[in-house]
Amino acid sequence: MTVAKTKKRLLFVDDDPAMVKVVGKILNSTFGPELIEFHDAMSGEKGLRKADKLQPDIVICDIHLPGMNGFEFCQTVRQSGLSATVILMSAYDEDEDYAIQAKEMGADAFLTKPVKKGELLFVVNFILQIEHLHQTVHTKNQELTERFDSTVGLLGNIIELNQSQRRGHSERVSRISVFVGQKMNMSPDSVENLRIAARLHELGIVSLPRDETVEEALDEGSSRQVTSHPMVAEMLLKGFAGFESVSELIRHMHENVDGSGKPDGLIGNRIPLGSRILSAASFYDHYMVSHPDSSILEALKSVEQCGGTWFDENVVSLLSDYALSQDQMGDEKTVSCSVFGLKEGMVLASDIYSESGINLLRKGTVLNRDMVNNILRFNILDPVEGQIQVRE
Ligand SMILES: [Fe+2]
Repeated sequence: MTVAKTKKRLLFVDDDPAMVKVVGKILNSTFGPELIEFHDAMSGEKGLRKADKLQPDIVICDIHLPGMNGFEFCQTVRQSGLSATVILMSAYDEDEDYAIQAKEMGADAFLTKPVKKGELLFVVNFILQIEHLHQTVHTKNQELTERFDSTVGLLGNIIELNQSQRRGHSERVSRISVFVGQKMNMSPDSVENLRIAARLHELGIVSLPRDETVEEALDEGSSRQVTSHPMVAEMLLKGFAGFESVSELIRHMHENVDGSGKPDGLIGNRIPLGSRILSAASFYDHYMVSHPDSSILEALKSVEQCGGTWFDENVVSLLSDYALSQDQMGDEKTVSCSVFGLKEGMVLASDIYSESGINLLRKGTVLNRDMVNNILRFNILDPVEGQIQVRE
């Protein structure tokens, strides 16, 4: 098996200077400083201070130390949340089974003193291999997450292209939903599913006949009673790995808490919380889009009127908090500029769309040099629409 190529910090805690010197020499000559960065401490107390500062990947500690012993050291390291692999070591004692005690204190391995070179290298090499495996799995997971996010982004852009009348709706619903979900103490995974469900909740509308799509945009209030678009979205998504929970949230987004909704007539808390949030958030934003002259308070009133019948009243209350906080943020000073006025470091106060309706960048994005260059290049093919709002 290939050993990890990234450098690992190893902290060796022992009050015997000769032992520290020998172990340091063995590790250095075998792995080299480019693979193992060796640090030492002469007591448990000093070891803890160094561990806190260095955040080592591997800790090797003698059990018999003046002051804090190795077991106490190991237990404190574990309580601190440090994720290092800990190896305890001690001379063989026929009356005490130190290895079992070491395991109980949270150690990952145990070495008997006097430590033999072969055993030390075997254990350290094994830990490096495990670290390498963890690193590989972590990297692969990140790649998969990025690919999944790209798929969600692509689907979101396709939905946006079919929703020229209410640009940014899905993104706004997503922001409201995440805010409410977090305030309701949903787990990070549940909030993430809700964020994706909000981005994709109108996937089914893309499949509706054009005139029906327009009607859906203008009147969410009446169309939610008859439209089947949540079930279409569910059908499109649920067969794909990773979208199972998301499709379930979208399926129930037109359920009403009094049981009068579709498709299953679920009542109150039987409706998934994410669906209840999505339901109110989408309704609110549809109202704002279809009543452009209305104030936020009027839009909130339209949602509050349905609290307890269509919408969860707790969700409505938090949605009001969100909308009012955004209203106050709207007072922050923004300036408008053309695409040629964009600079690195600017914060977008509105989404950027191309004239053909592609959502190029989202509100809140902090521009970097690549983004500015990409927008300028894209502008040649499909010009950016209108002026861009940026925050000073
Ligand atoms: Fe919607």
